[in-house]
Order: sequence, then structure tokens, then C-alpha cells
Amino acid sequence: MSSSDLSFRIVVLASGGGTNLQAILDRLHGHDGVEVVGVGSDRPGAFALERARKAGIETATFPQEDFDDRESRDTAMADWIDSTGADLVVLAGYMQLVSPDFVNRFRNRILNIHPALLPSFPGLDAIGQALEHGVRVTGVTVHFVDEGTDTGPVILQRAVEIPPGVDRRQLEEAIHAVEHEIYPEAIGMVARGRVRIAADNPRRVIVE
Ligand code: GRF
Repeated sequence: MSSSDLSFRIVVLASGGGTNLQAILDRLHGHDGVEVVGVGSDRPGAFALERARKAGIETATFPQEDFDDRESRDTAMADWIDSTGADLVVLAGYMQLVSPDFVNRFRNRILNIHPALLPSFPGLDAIGQALEHGVRVTGVTVHFVDEGTDTGPVILQRAVEIPPGVDRRQLEEAIHAVEHEIYPEAIGMVARGRVRIAADNPRRVIVE
């Protein structure tokens, strides 16, 4: 298949400002058959939804208070994602843990970006954790989502040095700049079928 024949549909889930969503829209959306077909959020006020509307992309919100529990919320969200015909679910600052059934339904079709070099500093405030720990190098990881918190197979990582005396805002800026580079890059690799899980080791990702 040549790149012009490619049709690859993405749904992005975001809870916050959506700068990663914006990078995906700017660098991938509408290029070489890759389309962002929906943006979903747990927060109706998320600025990410504004970015999507501005780009003419369908949006949907799934606030937890509208549902009895996480499973029913995730089922509704998964049904909506399927209705868009999405090939890939991209978590971009989505601040909810997705349920095991959701992971199972989109097995190896959910990506996340984390602002540290996993398996270091999983969970909340990875940038603060790195500063607190005093490491000299941190970075960014794009990985498949499994049932754990930031534990899925790693697709792409890039290091960011922490110079002596750097403040938190500077480090955040450096990390976000790398995120905006490598998330579109990793998603593009997946869209082109270049990424697969090794047959002999479900933790290892092969990029061709
Ligand atoms: C990013 O730092 C990402 O690594 C983390 O959440 C943040 C989202 O930022 N998972 P934004 O909403 O894309 O600006």
C-alpha cells in the first residue's frame, strides 16, 4: 500500500489543555491518510475540546458523574470510539485510568505518552518525581496501554537532560517540546504498520 492509499483513523482522549492533541493535529491530521476522527474527554471544560472543534473534529464527553461506575463510563466511551471507526485510541493527557475491559477491547490499539523514561517515575507528577529524586536525565515515553499504570510495552523514548539549577517550568517546557515531537512520530509509525509486539516477548516492541 502506498502512503497515499493509507486510511488510518485516530480517536484522542484528553482531559486538559491538549497541547499534545494540537501537535497531532498540526503534524499528522489530514496527512497521508491519517485522520483524527474524534476527541473525547472526561472533562466538558477541557481546552482540548476547543482545539478539536476548531479543527472541525467530532467531540464527546464522558463525565464520571453521568455514570454509575468506571466500567459503564468506559463502555459508553468504547461504544462511541467504535462508532467513529477508529483504528487507534491515543491518550493525550487523559487523567483517568481506563478499565481492564476497555484495554481488552482495544488491545494493542491504545497509546499513551508519559513525561519520564519509564519504568522510572510512573503515575502522577512524573516531572516532579524526577526533580525530587535528583536524576540528571529524564525524558518522554510513548507506550502501549495495558492494565497497569504506565506499565505497557514501550514504543519510543527520548531523553531530556536536567541541567543543574533548572527550575520546574523550564524542565516542563523541555519535556513538552519533546512530547510534541515524538508523539506524532510514534503514532505515524503505528499508522504505517511499522510497529508490532515481538511474538516471543509481549513486553518488546519491534519497529520496522
Ligand atoms: C503531558 O505532559 C503528557 O505527558 C501527560 O499529560 C500531559 C498532557 O499535556 N500524560 P497536554 O494536555 O497535551 O498539554
